[in-house]
Amino acid sequence: MAHPLTDKITQQLAQQQATGLLRQRKLLGFGTDTNVINVDFSHNDYLGLASSVELAQALYQGALTYGVGSKASPLVSGYGAAHQLLEQKLCDITGHQACMLFCSGFSANSALMKTLFTSTDVVIADKLVHASIIDGIVDSGAKLVRYLHNDIDSAAHLLAKHPNNVLITESVFSMDGDSAPIKALSALCQQHNSWLIVDDAHGFGVVDLHGCAAITAKQADIQVVTFGKALGCQGAAILASQDIIDFLVANARHYIYSTALSPANAYLAFSAIEFIEKSPHLPSQLNGNIALFRRLSTEAGIKLTASQTAIQPIIIGDNSLTMAVAESLALKGFKVGAIRSPTVPAGRARLRITLNAQHTPAQINQLVAQLALLLTDLSIENQ
Ligand SMILES: Cc1ncc(COP(=O)(O)O)c(C=O)c1O
Repeated sequence: MAHPLTDKITQQLAQQQATGLLRQRKLLGFGTDTNVINVDFSHNDYLGLASSVELAQALYQGALTYGVGSKASPLVSGYGAAHQLLEQKLCDITGHQACMLFCSGFSANSALMKTLFTSTDVVIADKLVHASIIDGIVDSGAKLVRYLHNDIDSAAHLLAKHPNNVLITESVFSMDGDSAPIKALSALCQQHNSWLIVDDAHGFGVVDLHGCAAITAKQADIQVVTFGKALGCQGAAILASQDIIDFLVANARHYIYSTALSPANAYLAFSAIEFIEKSPHLPSQLNGNIALFRRLSTEAGIKLTASQTAIQPIIIGDNSLTMAVAESLALKGFKVGAIRSPTVPAGRARLRITLNAQHTPAQINQLVAQLALLLTDLSIENQ
């Protein structure tokens, strides 16, 4: 007799295949074959640090000095000098009192939500917050109420209804690339005696670390930063008051029952921050590339959203058409993200094009030209 799970797996795979929602990994190629993707507009390495020689050397140096593995969870013996160095650096930059490190942003967000809330809580969040936040809230048993995306009036309405609470937003939204009105949300939270939690995964390191647009303890009671995007490496941190971090260290199961971030990776993230601090030309190169992409796309008649960040969505709507455009672009040598529901709302499937500081004007030019051609050939009026 077939195992019941075999039936479930077969049926679900067939259904996902039939509806154009089957997600599959594709090996990233580095060859000279023309079928192999050679310009990548799909990743979150916004400053191009993931393959930098300086950071490869920092990883080697970190491994030699502090070790490649942390060997245990932070509460056993996995918390060392490299972790402390990185935590202190993050506190210095953001002004938060304390910090704790995780191996990924997903586990940082999930741990934070699951540990902070219980089934008697009501949690307010932007409609488009990341899956890791939603999963953590669901695990906690708390009631999740969501305000309209980036809509201050809608947030104010929910805060008035549920005061003395917590409001959660991303700084830069991962699939739309638009920025949250952090200052207004922060003022609103203060007015309603509520905390503001900001998932800064796509903002940290891209905006000037010490500049006025950077998120700090002044606006966010709790801030989550990740190292796998602009820092080009891996891991994440929660930043907050000493009491909040003490509480999480003592109670967060993802932290207590998991091997700590490797010290080599902690030193790498520390070095990545120092590297960004010494390289103000990188964010300005990125901004130049974003502006160029937007100008060329507009000239070519491609509709853009209001996003001014490295994340530039091209909304196509239909899942299969979105996949068809992404696959055709890949054949021409351009890898772009193809995002379907449930990651984005049904009918809002999109190409997620991400610019980085290392793209050349010629590459951006070619991408836009190919994209415009494909949209015309397939008679697609993007939204
Ligand atoms: C907004 C946001 N938060 C958190 C995460 C999770 O971070 P990580 O990739 O480090 O697990 C992501 C990852 O895509 C994200 O986009």
